[in-house]
Amino acid sequence: MQETLTIDSAEKASEIALMNTMLSPRFYTTNFAEMDRVDVSSLRSEWDKMMDEYEGDNNHDHFQRTPEFSKEVAERFSQVSPEMRQEFLDFLISSLTSEFSGCILYNEIYKKSQNPDIKNLMRYMARDESRHASFINQSLKDFGLGIDLGDLKRNKPYTYFKPKYIFYATYLSEKIGYARYITIFRQLEKHPEKRFHPIFKWFERWCNDEFRHGESFALIMRANPHLLRGVNIYWIRFFLLAVYATMYVRDHCRPMLHEEMGLDSTTYDYTVFQITNDITRQVFPVSLDIDSPLFRQGLDKLLHIQKQLDMAKARGGLIGKFQQAGWALVGAKTFVQLYFLPIKHHALPTEVRMAPAW
Ligand SMILES: [Fe+2]
Ligand SMILES: [Fe+2]
Repeated sequence: MQETLTIDSAEKASEIALMNTMLSPRFYTTNFAEMDRVDVSSLRSEWDKMMDEYEGDNNHDHFQRTPEFSKEVAERFSQVSPEMRQEFLDFLISSLTSEFSGCILYNEIYKKSQNPDIKNLMRYMARDESRHASFINQSLKDFGLGIDLGDLKRNKPYTYFKPKYIFYATYLSEKIGYARYITIFRQLEKHPEKRFHPIFKWFERWCNDEFRHGESFALIMRANPHLLRGVNIYWIRFFLLAVYATMYVRDHCRPMLHEEMGLDSTTYDYTVFQITNDITRQVFPVSLDIDSPLFRQGLDKLLHIQKQLDMAKARGGLIGKFQQAGWALVGAKTFVQLYFLPIKHHALPTEVRMAPAW
């Protein structure tokens, strides 16, 4: 657990969703006028095909609970340990926050956009993310921990990213979201006895939405190839590392969640990184060398630093503050070392679109 708060009331759940730490999901805003200038006409036929898929809305009836849902929660989830319950609730809250983060951003762009292509896309993606966030919130409500999404929207701080950073970061978070959900789904498909909560049964069709959202950003970037070359390669490397490192540290701070599913956090994370690396070849001409021992040691070091930071924070006082500052510096240095490790280069495929085949 990244925070020591016990999640035992709706107020605590909201407090966690509102937090802005290095590891927690954030809300974003952008330059809407610049976003409007995005032109996808060089990939018109792929774009229109994708819009037809959104219009077809093959998941319109997916996010509804079956009568067995509550029964399974009562029978199966009630058997997990109190610590495990806390980790799962923390997982639900961070997943809800990141689903809702997408919903808010896409909806704001939709409302402010004059560009018909962007407007259309954002409307569909906001529709999907709103379903995802509400579906998770229903599971929090089962425990009396439902989050007031209106309050969250009003009170959580927003981080400004210019459009190109939104494209890199959001593309990655959609694709890594797909990889995370499908890896969990496949594991529990093989080991149904480990499925301690019914929500995981929804992950397969759910993650196809995330996959398609990622495809949309892939088309936007491929239609604007200047985003994928020159100095922008350094930004792509930065976002790849930031997203992978954050996921690694956060997942290892709640290891029981994966153990309960019969997964080990390190194996799970590297499976997700491998899938994400395989997918991002459609758009990024570089990828991180996730098999390099130096890369793996670097991520473990970041995890160690995060644990020390949490201890220093818990200690408090002047010494605690000094220790926190010291570990933050070591963390920054480790991140820079990881950033400059050799990376892999590849040519982009002619066909941009991929199928969610994992
Ligand atoms: Fe989503
Ligand atoms: Fe999404």
